[in-house]
Amino acid sequence: MEEEQQEQSGDGNGTGADEGGDRTLQAWLAGIAIGCLVVAAMIVAYEIGKNNPDQEAAVKKPVAAAGSSGSPAPASPEASTFASTCGSCHTLAAADTDATVGPNLDDLQPDSAMVMAAIENGGAGSGVMPAGLLSGEEAQAVADYVAKSAGSGK
Ligand code: HEC
Repeated sequence: MEEEQQEQSGDGNGTGADEGGDRTLQAWLAGIAIGCLVVAAMIVAYEIGKNNPDQEAAVKKPVAAAGSSGSPAPASPEASTFASTCGSCHTLAAADTDATVGPNLDDLQPDSAMVMAAIENGGAGSGVMPAGLLSGEEAQAVADYVAKSAGSGK
């Protein structure tokens, strides 16, 4: 009885306590290692999250700048309206038309009111230029465009 108890207690206290201590230490080390990894991952994620808005802003700014500076490059709506509605009869360098049925508007250089009258009445009344090709704001916009750009080439 006494021998068995001593052996059991000796084995139990000796090896059991050592293994228990090793496992506890390993668990601690593993826990600390995992904890460090999690913290490191959070720091990395935070740094990426902090940097991304800057990078997006840096990317967006040139795009916005290109969009605003690039928009004047294509033909204005008035230029394309003139080209499709009036360009078959009139020369206007700004709208890239060179027809000779009606007067060359670069030479005539009409003011906006004269163009409006021509659009409403149909040219000077010979009946070649149809009346009312455009109306309202569109007519006014094209009249302003012709008055502004006739003779200027732009
Ligand atoms: C079918 C051909 C034709 C089209 C399309 C046409 N015109 Fe004319 N336009 C003429 C002719 C021809 C005249 C010369 C005057 C006349 O014969 O009535 C003229 C005259 C004009 C004049 C001078 C008017 C004046 O008092 O001397 C202006 C300005 C003008 N056109 C602007 C335009 C505009 C802007 C458009 C498009 C909305 C247009 N024209 C479309 C044939 C055309």
